[in-house]
Amino acid sequence: MLADRIGLVTGAGQGIGRAIAVEMARQGARGVAVLDIDAEGGQATAALVREAGADGVFVPCDLRDGAQITAAVQAVAERFGGLDVLVNNAGVIESMMTGHCAFDELTEEIWDAVYEINLKAVWRMTKAAAPLLRSSPRTPAVLNAGSTAGLVGYAHPVYCASKGGVIQLTKAMAIDLRDQIEQIGASERIAARENQLRPWLTKFPNLAQERNSLTEAELKWIRGRHCFGAAVAASQRARSGGFPVNVDRRPSVISRRVAGGGTVNGER
Ligand SMILES: NC(=O)c1ccc[n+]([C@@H]2O[C@H](COP(=O)([O-])OP(=O)(O)OC[C@H]3O[C@@H](n4cnc5c(N)ncnc54)[C@H](O)[C@@H]3O)[C@@H](O)[C@H]2O)c1
Repeated sequence: MLADRIGLVTGAGQGIGRAIAVEMARQGARGVAVLDIDAEGGQATAALVREAGADGVFVPCDLRDGAQITAAVQAVAERFGGLDVLVNNAGVIESMMTGHCAFDELTEEIWDAVYEINLKAVWRMTKAAAPLLRSSPRTPAVLNAGSTAGLVGYAHPVYCASKGGVIQLTKAMAIDLRDQIEQIGASERIAARENQLRPWLTKFPNLAQERNSLTEAELKWIRGRHCFGAAVAASQRARSGGFPVNVDRRPSVISRRVAGGGTVNGER
């Protein structure tokens, strides 16, 4: 449960982000900041969050603009006095913008849009929110939207590149955020589902694959190292059909693998 937590969900004006924002409210969050460039969708999600029992507020923001990201985090701090769970969910794909997605047809404009929203904004947002997360006494967590496209190749070059980047950025930020380990309390979970999508999150989406090739001795070593041990557990739970989002007792920077019909390594 997310009792008394403050969440911020990017791209929550519709889709998976909306589902996560509402689910956070259902799980007892005190407040949820609904960040989106789409005011109508964002306000509708904020209303749904309020219906679900939390203080939902729409925070307008174009994630391509660093100054707007800084201002959005500031607005959340002023409204709620802190931040505990950051969900970097917003994402776009080039096929939404053009029929010419091949790498040698893609324009710089479209490359930059997908890269900035999917990857650079994850870094900018987490950087802006890090002081609030670091001072949170309530299991601070960061969840990043990955994709199978970050693991296997699809005919969407910049989407694949950006999601592969999200996975690596997630791992790197997890190392930098490890210092909160001693401050963090009990295990907490949130769940989100939407239509046929079956998104589930682990700290490292490719961990299940990695795990299959690891010896018991290597696994034991990994379990002893900050975030990795929790990632193994999250991966195991996810594979057994468990919850899609895990906010673990350790400092969490989590990537999401959304398996909406797609599989990796035969897993779903
Ligand atoms: N839907 C899937 O099957 C699927 C599969 C794999 C991964 N994902 C990932 O999950 C995440 C959510 O996917 P979805 O299908 O719910 O997306 P969606 O397209 O339904 O919603 C994306 C939201 O992001 C917002 N947004 C777009 N550009 C923005 C900007 N510049 N600033 C602020 N907000 C902006 C949109 O207004 C929208 O509300 C994405 O990161 C996506 O890549 C989705």
